[in-house]
Amino acid sequence: MSGGFGSGGAAADPVTRGEPAKKGLHVITWGCQMNVYDSGRMADVLAPLGYGPAGSLEGADMVLLNTCHIRERASEKLFSELGRLRVLKEARAAAGERMILAVAGCVAQAEGADILTRAPYVDVVLGPQSYHRLPEMVARAARAGGAVIDTDFPAESKFDHLPEAAAPQGLTAFLTIQEGCDKFCSFCVVPYTRGAEASRPAAAVLAEARRLVAQGAREITLLGQNVNAWHGEGPDGQPASLARLVRWLAEIPDLARIRYTTSHPRDMDEDLITAHGEVAQLMPFLHLPVQSGSNRVLAAMNRGHDVAAFRRIIARLRAARPDIALSSDFIVGHPGETEQDFVATLDLVREIGFAGAFSFKYSARPGTPAAGAAGQVPEAQKDRRLQELQTLLRDQQAAFNAGCVGLSVPVLFTGKGRHAGQIAGRSPWLQPVHVIGPESLIGREMPVKIAAAHTNSLSGTLEQERVCA
Ligand code: 5AD
Ligand code: SF4
Repeated sequence: MSGGFGSGGAAADPVTRGEPAKKGLHVITWGCQMNVYDSGRMADVLAPLGYGPAGSLEGADMVLLNTCHIRERASEKLFSELGRLRVLKEARAAAGERMILAVAGCVAQAEGADILTRAPYVDVVLGPQSYHRLPEMVARAARAGGAVIDTDFPAESKFDHLPEAAAPQGLTAFLTIQEGCDKFCSFCVVPYTRGAEASRPAAAVLAEARRLVAQGAREITLLGQNVNAWHGEGPDGQPASLARLVRWLAEIPDLARIRYTTSHPRDMDEDLITAHGEVAQLMPFLHLPVQSGSNRVLAAMNRGHDVAAFRRIIARLRAARPDIALSSDFIVGHPGETEQDFVATLDLVREIGFAGAFSFKYSARPGTPAAGAAGQVPEAQKDRRLQELQTLLRDQQAAFNAGCVGLSVPVLFTGKGRHAGQIAGRSPWLQPVHVIGPESLIGREMPVKIAAAHTNSLSGTLEQERVCA
């Protein structure tokens, strides 16, 4: 997961749907790729009600805020955005028009009815398990003018109710296959906000993947809070493994690349590791959060694995797929973390070597076990530890990128580059790569000789161009 409220406020999604819209919908999404995906699906379920992309926020008939609870001060940021929207809503009301405000996502789940107490002008509040009920809730809110709330965890999965994704996602597509988490890490709200682990059946995933490929996708990233805990129903009616699903997906012609995120070390089974060595379409890049390099802290976090188990997984992955690169998530300053524990994290980072990483200061989430635990770490210490860790991780990322210079790397071109004549795409390790080349190559995977590593990207020359020159 990446992003969150931190990215300079929320990003407005370009929600593009085919039919000319009678009512304008403006979606604001915070948080991870799963939230971006969910926003698209919510726009899909609202399309039959006549909602399509609004020309402007001010002119929208409905503003949907899809929230993320994982980062700090999530609810304050929501209420400050709602305050801004209230002014717009009142201006529309003064003109005799209605603007429906809907709050969805994990903050909606966590705060529920409290949102309506603090912001009574909100019309709809719904949790991640209730998206399929959105049209009904919006219709009821539009009729009654009163607020409608649904944050219950229903017994059946929301996957059963959502219509097929309507909008083409482009060359690189996301596909949610799993939701929820049963792991209950001490610091994390996801098990409370997203509910128990649920997996989509293989047939539904494969049908959606085929559709995405028919619409032009060459790369699919499978999404889930615990994606490698996927155990959806297979063709024989029995639960299947993610390794099996990856192998089925690899049979789809024209699907060049498969990725999956986010994984948990506990669910990194032998089959999946073997698949990394055997399935060419499975990209050699894995995001595998470890959170800490100290066994004491990992136990306090209730992670269910120790440092040795993480090391073993990495060694087996590297044996299966020698060019695999790794990224991870780290938390510094979890309650009880000593200087020695923190040094153990730095040691693990040095030992493993990461191509990228997300690192965070521990921040208490009300209702989670760590929030009330003894040994809260002072803010200044957390700041210093984070800086030290991020410096090390940045150096490792730069070294990884520099190590690509001189290599021939397959790049899937996905669009034009920033400068005239450039085209850009991604390496197997998710690095952005740009070259001078014709737009006709967009959509194709081509070998590129890497000439230079920049802060966050690589540049080079098309191998074939070199051959022809
Ligand atoms: N404080 C800091 N970081 C957190 N994460 C999740 N909850 C918290 C928290 N309370 C981080 C973890 C997780 C990533 C998505 O966000 O590292 O893997
Ligand atoms: Fe949160 Fe832990 Fe579940 Fe990841 S595995 S979603 S960190 S509880």
